[in-house]
Amino acid sequence: MSNQRVTFGSKLGVILATVGCAVGLGNIWRFPYMLGSNGGAAFLLVYLLCILLLGLPVMITEFFIGRHSHRNAAGAFKIMAPGTKWSIIGYNGVLAAFLILGFYSVVSGWTLEYIMQAFSGSLIGKSAADFKAEFTNFSSDALRPIIWTFVFIAMTHIIIVSGVKKGIERASKVMMPLLFLILIALCIRSVTLPNAGEGLTFLFKPDFSKITSSVVLSAMGQAFFSLSIGMGCLITYASYFKQDTNLQTTALQVTILDTLVAVLAGVMIFPAVFSFGIAPTAGPELVFITLPNVFEQLPMGWLWSAVFFILLALAALTSTISLHEVATAYVHEEYNVSRKRAAWFVSAGVLVFGVISSLSFGLLKEYTIGGMIFFDALDYLTAKIMLPLGGMLICIFVGTRIDRKILKAELTNEGTIPFLFFNTYAFFMKYIAPVAIGLIFLNESGLIHRIIELF
Ligand code: PHE
Repeated sequence: MSNQRVTFGSKLGVILATVGCAVGLGNIWRFPYMLGSNGGAAFLLVYLLCILLLGLPVMITEFFIGRHSHRNAAGAFKIMAPGTKWSIIGYNGVLAAFLILGFYSVVSGWTLEYIMQAFSGSLIGKSAADFKAEFTNFSSDALRPIIWTFVFIAMTHIIIVSGVKKGIERASKVMMPLLFLILIALCIRSVTLPNAGEGLTFLFKPDFSKITSSVVLSAMGQAFFSLSIGMGCLITYASYFKQDTNLQTTALQVTILDTLVAVLAGVMIFPAVFSFGIAPTAGPELVFITLPNVFEQLPMGWLWSAVFFILLALAALTSTISLHEVATAYVHEEYNVSRKRAAWFVSAGVLVFGVISSLSFGLLKEYTIGGMIFFDALDYLTAKIMLPLGGMLICIFVGTRIDRKILKAELTNEGTIPFLFFNTYAFFMKYIAPVAIGLIFLNESGLIHRIIELF
């Protein structure tokens, strides 16, 4: 395995780049609206269980594969199980990266429009109905959102071609701490609003009757999406880790920070939403319609809006670069083309998906897949199917194909650091995670009910 492979420069760089990959629109845009439309605190509870029982073991396993193979998502399996079909896990991941980027870059582009609008003063003096109408008008426009999608892909592209250390690591080191500061300031603003308590109750006091199979599938999908697991992103990043990087603590830190940002995003959004009497079930538009409306009613509202959407754009950018990297590293290494050329190929492909996703809000609205517009279909297919399935296969692969001693040696840096709960981890990775994911799929598809009825 090559010793010349580029690595992240410092320990802090590793953490910030990986947290940057995990923390994104998933935490600040997707998490609140999923929670809002899936029963509030009950969703949070199931989500936290998925993070702990499924997310953490899968993340450690992906770190193992990446650093052990020093390869991209698909190449890793070719090295670890040559001549077998296991590299299908990697192809699933590379494809997922294209599909996720396809809708993710559209939402990322929306954040740029809202930053512009905040600075130009056009988010002031409007009613909730105006905000809704304007969002609908803007998102269904055939040109404006596409231009922003293009700008966002171009920004991602520039960072990617600057390389792993100078591009990804340097960008994350500046952006991630800034993101935390802005988020905390906005949380303080939100919880000091009148009636903030109602939002906190919605977020933290579970009503167990709200837990249904679709809530569980949504929570699992959200956990995988938010932690960036199941599609080889963390395999690719871990391939740039150094030999002395502590994989266990890195996984724990990334999981805790990612969950913290999601919960803080909830604390930032729900008290404000309830304080101004807005419905928490607005869906994907929650952030784009309700928040400008909330901010507008605060002193210096335009500034709060600007700050919030800058935060969202930063979070999105550190994630789009990680998604882009999965595909770029794959094309670069597996087809032996230069990194630059690989990046061009990926950007062009993503742009195609991005344009179709964006148009699916307007021009292509009539073309649905399983009743969903293209944008929603990409989200559903990736978060609820491809990532959990990828995570399940990753666990089955390591659980059945890899010698425990090799696994333990990599995760303990050749025995130089302890792994206190190794057996617990290995048990969860090999049995609990794949079985639980499988059961959630069966339950949601209604198969379990049919089997129970048979008896
Ligand atoms: N985790 C990112 C987010 O929450 C999205 C993502 C998914 C990034 C999968 C990389 C891989 O926004």
